[in-house]
Amino acid sequence: MNVYDSDRMTDALVKDGYISTDVMEDADLVLLNTCHIREKAAEKVYSALGRLRDLKKKKAGEGRQMMIGVAGCVAQAEGDEILRRAPAVDLVIGPQTYHRLPEALKRVRRGERVLETDYAIEDKFEHLPAPDKAKTRARGVTAFLTVQEGCDKFCTFCVVPYTRGSEVSRPVAQILAEAGKLVEAGVREITLLGQNVNAWHGLGGDGAEWGLGELLHALARIEGLARLRYTTSHPRDMDETLIAAHRDLPQLMPYLHLPIQSGSNRILKAMNRRHTTAEYIALITRIKAARPDIAMSGDFIVGFPGETDEDFEDTMRLVETVGYAQAFSFKYSTRPGTPGADLGDQVPEEVKAKRLERLQEFLLSQQRAFAQACIGREIDLLLEKPGRMPGQLIGRSPWLQSVNVDAKASQIGDIIKVRITGAGPNSLFAETIS
Ligand code: 5AD
Ligand code: SF4
Repeated sequence: MNVYDSDRMTDALVKDGYISTDVMEDADLVLLNTCHIREKAAEKVYSALGRLRDLKKKKAGEGRQMMIGVAGCVAQAEGDEILRRAPAVDLVIGPQTYHRLPEALKRVRRGERVLETDYAIEDKFEHLPAPDKAKTRARGVTAFLTVQEGCDKFCTFCVVPYTRGSEVSRPVAQILAEAGKLVEAGVREITLLGQNVNAWHGLGGDGAEWGLGELLHALARIEGLARLRYTTSHPRDMDETLIAAHRDLPQLMPYLHLPIQSGSNRILKAMNRRHTTAEYIALITRIKAARPDIAMSGDFIVGFPGETDEDFEDTMRLVETVGYAQAFSFKYSTRPGTPGADLGDQVPEEVKAKRLERLQEFLLSQQRAFAQACIGREIDLLLEKPGRMPGQLIGRSPWLQSVNVDAKASQIGDIIKVRITGAGPNSLFAETIS
C-alpha cells in the first residue's frame, strides 16, 4: 500500500510543478514513506533521516533548500517524537491526510514545521487526484488500487488499527472510475489493496449492498482489464460470493494471500485472530473446490509471547497440510501500544531466530516444489517489462511468479501462451507456444 500511496502523493504534486527524480542529491523535497509494522522497519526511518540531515546541510552550504518530509505509519505513530529527535524534518504527514500534502508543503516553504496526523473527517480519496495518465503509463501494465483501508480486527500483535485507523471502504463509483483511468493508460492487471481487502463493502450500482465478490464482477466487465488480484484478506471475511468469484471470473487470478499467522489454536486465541486452524483449513478446502488450481500464500509470526515448542510444531504441521506456493514469515516484534506488548512470557530472541530459520527453510522448499511442479505446464503470461538478457521479457504467471521468455519489447502488455521449461531460484523460464 505504501507503493500505491507514494504514487498518489507524487501525482498530487504534479500540479505544483514537482517532478520525481531518482537522484537524491537533485531533490528539493525528499519524502520518506514509512512502515511501522515491525520495529526494524521503524528504526530504518531514523537512520535514513541521519543521512538526509547531512545532505540537507551540504545543500544549504551551496545555497539550495531541501525539504524533508516523513509520511506513512511511523509519521502517524511517532509524529511528535520525529520532530523532536530530527530537527532537519520539515513535515510529518500521516496516511489519512495525504490530500493535504500540497498545502502542507506550501506552509513549509513559508518557514513552518508542519505536523499533519489528525484523522481527516473528509475522505482523502475524494480530494486526491485520479492517477496521472502519463505517470501510470510509465509505471507499467500492472497497477495497485486501494479499495479499503484500516482495520477493526485488533490482532494483539498489530499496530495497523492504530496507525491506519478503523475500516473504511471506498465507494463503488470511485473505484470503477479509477480502474477505468488505469485501463485507459494501458494497465492490464489491477491488484485491489486493503489491510482487510475482503472486508470491503459498498452500495452497488444496482442499489444492493455489495461485498468484494460483487465488486470484482463489476471490475471484470471493464474492457481491456485482463487480470484481477486482491490482497490482503482475513479468513473471517471470505464470503460465499467472493469464493464463487474465483470459480466464475476468468480474470480473477488463481492466487490468494490468506494469512493465518500461527498453526496453534492456543496462540491464535492469544493473538485475537478469532478463527481456528480447522476453520482455516476448511475454508481453503471450499476455495479449492471453487478454483482447484488456486495457489495459497500466507503470513506467519514466530515467537508470539507464550509460544512453546509444541505451538511452533503446530505451525510447521499447518504449513505441511496447506502447502504454500509462497509465504512471508517474521519474528514477533513487540509494538508499543498493542496488547501483545504487555504480555509476559516473551520468547527469547535466539529461540525466535531458530524457529524462523526452520519455518523459512520449509516454506522455501514448498515454494521450490511448487515452481518445479509448474515445469511442462502451458500457461498465460502477462508480459510486463524487459528481462535481464536482450531479446527477453519478464512476465507474470497466474500464480505471481516471474517468468523469463524470449519476446519483443513491443509485446509488453500482451498476454501470450507459453510452456514453462525450467525453474531458477527466483524465477521461471518459458518458451512461447505458437
Ligand atoms: N511482529 C511481527 N510481524 C508482524 N506482522 C504484523 N505485526 C507484526 C509484529 N508485531 C506481520 C503479520 C502481518 C504482516 C503484514 O506483518 O504477519 O500479516
Ligand atoms: Fe493487523 Fe491484519 Fe490483524 Fe488487522 S487483521 S490487526 S491489519 S494483522
